[in-house]
Amino acid sequence: MSMPTPRKRILTGDRPTGPLHIGHLAGSLQNRVALQHQYETFVLLADVQALTDNFERPQKIRDNVLEVMLDYLAVGLNPDVCTFVIQSQLPEIAELTVLYLNLVTVSHLRQNPTVKSEIAQKGYGDAVPAGFFVYPVSQAADITAFGAHLVPVGEDQLPMIEQTREIVRRFNHLYAPVLTAPQALVGQAARLPGLDNAGKMSKSLNNAIFLSDSADTVARKVKGMYTDPGHLRAEDPGQVDGNPVFAYLDAFDPDRSGLEAMKDHYRQGGLGDVKVKRHLTDVLEATLAPIRERRTDFARNTDSVQEIVRTGTLRGREVAAETIQAVRQAMGLDYF
Ligand code: TRP
Repeated sequence: MSMPTPRKRILTGDRPTGPLHIGHLAGSLQNRVALQHQYETFVLLADVQALTDNFERPQKIRDNVLEVMLDYLAVGLNPDVCTFVIQSQLPEIAELTVLYLNLVTVSHLRQNPTVKSEIAQKGYGDAVPAGFFVYPVSQAADITAFGAHLVPVGEDQLPMIEQTREIVRRFNHLYAPVLTAPQALVGQAARLPGLDNAGKMSKSLNNAIFLSDSADTVARKVKGMYTDPGHLRAEDPGQVDGNPVFAYLDAFDPDRSGLEAMKDHYRQGGLGDVKVKRHLTDVLEATLAPIRERRTDFARNTDSVQEIVRTGTLRGREVAAETIQAVRQAMGLDYF
């Protein structure tokens, strides 16, 4: 009788820089919840990566590890099937990063489009912290440490997967074929625009609805949302495209035909923003109420959350230790 084939492995993760918002929910969390039973799922709380641009504020990152864990559990990532790992507690990842840094050139890192735009956005210029500059290499260490086959990501993370695949190719060619080349699994959902439509939803732009927001806060934020600036009176025809209110409805309204009818009405004129926003508030509330309830329950019992992430991290270390052993052997670093 043959052994059952082991399930393929997924690695996903987030930088714990703040609580998660509905952009994360639509863009990646719902996808992860759907995949968790099909794949062996590791979820990385990437605190070391978060420190690369928050190193003056380590307490902020530490606090947000718990916040993000609460968000994960609240949306339905199930600790019986997911392994939650705190990145900083795996020295194996740091060791892999150092070894991989030899396989990457500065000129190549400079071309990474995601890092490039982040450097521009943060105004670092040449004063970019070296740790930030090389975080794609540390992300390659994350992914390969777990031997992940698949990495569900948003578009902006594709250069990280490409970088990882290149490191794997070089390593396996130079030393021995011990590393797994990951594949990106890009979700269909585009990232949600912010409440102000001025960019993607993000905590730092102060344009987000958080999973932990109260019903009142959600209602207030929706009221203040940007809509079609040309739609001044209810009678006027309105724009649906580029209107964040409809982008959120696209992401969360389960009544697809009702939504299409609403869009037609809005385009024709005669449907006011107040009504559409009231509907959006209801739709968001239907999505967020159960999440909020579970979050409150877990927040009352942080000891059990600590235990979940402690157990997960220990398990993660076991897996990473296997990788590092193979890597050391492949490079002849197994002296004793
Ligand atoms: N860079 C990812 C982000 O900003 C977070 C992350 C770190 C990650 N390590 C990872 C994602 C490994 C997937 C796999 O969202």
